[in-house]
Amino acid sequence: MIYSGKAVSVTLHDGGIAELKFDLQGESVNKFNQETVVDLGKAVDAIKGNSDVKGVVVTSGKSVFIVGADITEFTDMFKLPEDEIAGWCLKSNQVFCAFEDLPVPTVCAINGIALGGGLEMALTCDFRVMADTAQVGLPEVKLGLFPGFGGTVRMPRLIGVDNAVEWIAAGGQHKADKALKDGVVDAVVAGDKLFDAAVSLIKQCLEGKIDHMKKRSEKLEPLKLPPLENMMAFQTSGAFVAQQAGKNYPAPVAAVNVMQQHGGMKRDQALEAEAKGFAKVAKTPQATALVGLFLADQAVKKANGGHMKKGAKDLNQAAVLGAGIMGGGIAYQSASKGTPIIMKDIADAALDLGMGEASKLLAKQVQRKRIDPAKMGKTLSMIRPTLNYGDFANVDVVVEAVVENEKIKQSVLAETEGTLKDGAVLASNTSTISITRLATALKKPENFAGMHFFNPVHMMPLVEVIRGEKTSDETVATLVAYATKMGKNPIVVNDCPGFLVNRVLFPYFGGFGMLMRDGADFLAVDKVMEKFGWPMGPAYLMDVVGIDTGVHAAKVMADGFPDRMKHDFKDVSEVLFENKRYGQKTKAGFYQYVLDKKGKQVKTADATTWELIKPHVAETREFDADEIIARLMIPLCTETVRCLEDNIVGSAAEADMAMIYGIGFPPFRGGPIRHIESIGIKEFVALCDKYAHLGKLYEAPQLLKDMAASGKSFFA
Ligand SMILES: NC(=O)c1ccc[n+]([C@@H]2O[C@H](COP(=O)([O-])OP(=O)(O)OC[C@H]3O[C@@H](n4cnc5c(N)ncnc54)[C@H](O)[C@@H]3O)[C@@H](O)[C@H]2O)c1
Repeated sequence: MIYSGKAVSVTLHDGGIAELKFDLQGESVNKFNQETVVDLGKAVDAIKGNSDVKGVVVTSGKSVFIVGADITEFTDMFKLPEDEIAGWCLKSNQVFCAFEDLPVPTVCAINGIALGGGLEMALTCDFRVMADTAQVGLPEVKLGLFPGFGGTVRMPRLIGVDNAVEWIAAGGQHKADKALKDGVVDAVVAGDKLFDAAVSLIKQCLEGKIDHMKKRSEKLEPLKLPPLENMMAFQTSGAFVAQQAGKNYPAPVAAVNVMQQHGGMKRDQALEAEAKGFAKVAKTPQATALVGLFLADQAVKKANGGHMKKGAKDLNQAAVLGAGIMGGGIAYQSASKGTPIIMKDIADAALDLGMGEASKLLAKQVQRKRIDPAKMGKTLSMIRPTLNYGDFANVDVVVEAVVENEKIKQSVLAETEGTLKDGAVLASNTSTISITRLATALKKPENFAGMHFFNPVHMMPLVEVIRGEKTSDETVATLVAYATKMGKNPIVVNDCPGFLVNRVLFPYFGGFGMLMRDGADFLAVDKVMEKFGWPMGPAYLMDVVGIDTGVHAAKVMADGFPDRMKHDFKDVSEVLFENKRYGQKTKAGFYQYVLDKKGKQVKTADATTWELIKPHVAETREFDADEIIARLMIPLCTETVRCLEDNIVGSAAEADMAMIYGIGFPPFRGGPIRHIESIGIKEFVALCDKYAHLGKLYEAPQLLKDMAASGKSFFA
């Protein structure tokens, strides 16, 4: 052993082949934390000091190669001033360059996932050999960043500008065949042949059959294309990237710009330009939000792991009550992810519809070559439609998705409970009815909870698992496990009107209603909010949700929180409801809808809407974008804080993720709590005060006022 550190070791094998192995102690994966970079530097020094080393093979002691930088270190690091962040990049790059400049040939053996810093390490080697099952990529743009360990410098010099722009600006994770085709790796072999293949390459270099120094020099010199062609290549791809990413995601364009900027430079100077550019993107609010989002996602997974440890039961057979929009979707999702499901309804026609919908979704997957016809057949056979409770004694978990009526639900739940084995878990997909109240109809309320899916089930990533007063930890554990098995992101919340997501969404709609009352144009409001980052503005969203559903839920919310959610004017959604304009489902709501050639609903403005709402709103006037945003976002954000105050949700991370997964909150803003923090808690409280004359919906919650006074943060 030439060197042994906490993350890196170097062993000398026969023939002077040194194996530099990444194997971070105490962790299941390798990542480039600061400690690993320092360790790598020491390993390089040890190699340099040993004249027996004739070549180096870089390997991993884990099933992955290196998953990337340690993102948990980013939050503190990115608080530093720009020049210090750039300095950190350059210091790390000195280590990578010292490795790259070793006087012997180097080959990286990529055995598993190599992302971000992991692939950048591989790029410092003269050659890369990759296992056929491994995957590589530079996903930094997904965090609002771009590669900062030399990736923007080495990639274009190795694989050309067009390819490098695609790999870096799109941030994809690629399989071996693509990596080989684009020249990111030099050979692909079976995993068990990887080390030998790398050694063989070194030997060929030593025998003079391959000129590794020539290959290496490509990375040290400026880009080969003449300046004009370079400029053209960057400008064309830059324009395309800008259009794809949109102005809310600046990192991909910044990556292209920095590559263009340092294209004419030698390596060390180019790395300086990369470091400066990296420090700039690291300080953008988008990077703060997207890094925060990554960490929040980890926090949610950790919280869910904690829930599941509390006694999740085996899930071999599920059942769903109701074969409607939601029941059919739940059956499809459960079966496609491997849990057989009985789908019970009271009407044959409904069962046919539910099965038909599942077939349609599966056929689309076959058409897109995501699954083969055999898998489609197998999945369909895992959904068993029925009109009776025949096999319910074998069921481990039941999700009730019948009509939204408390009495009917209570009677269906009680009836179902009587057919189940001991310990089976029962859940309701209700959107508005109290879980604690539904539980009063049951003999074993501890085995019951809410399991709130979103429409359409196969597309929407969130499932709220709602704990009623008597719900047991085992029940929560089992439903979290079931949602996870279905490929969803469960978030556990406590029972209250609207649970978490609707409780936060309806104040936003409330703000919209008041804005309309005061003379806003909903077309303008939708436009502003879409520009802000929402996938659809509030009027369009109401049309998609269903004006009837919205009006009903708004009433439940007003009863639950009358001080801020009850209104004393006629809301425009109520006007549309009375005129049976329920949104997309009736082809008219705020907008009118027609089907295009592909059968997609296309919206157009509708003069009738104006005629209907005119008697109930002030004369139309223009509101500036800032006012529209504030009047909609304040109620949504403050209600999220109230949910934390009331312990409806366990953490700011879970609250933010729920809004992103559940209602498409703009991810680059990181969620409602992150949005408050990006404005500044004190400044946000001041903004609430500015609009306080509009009523309780705009009052800053006590928790925010306290935090503004003490200077505390939700994400400390
Ligand atoms: N549609 C949505 O966007 C959405 C979103 C989240 C939650 N939910 C909730 O999901 C539930 C179902 O909503 P949906 O939109 O699928 O309704 P739906 O009307 O499309 O389907 C309800 C189905 O339940 C069946 N049914 C009625 N009584 C039954 C019984 N006793 N046993 C078995 N089946 C019975 C009906 O025949 C019908 O097929 C509701 O509680 C709703 O609030 C709906």
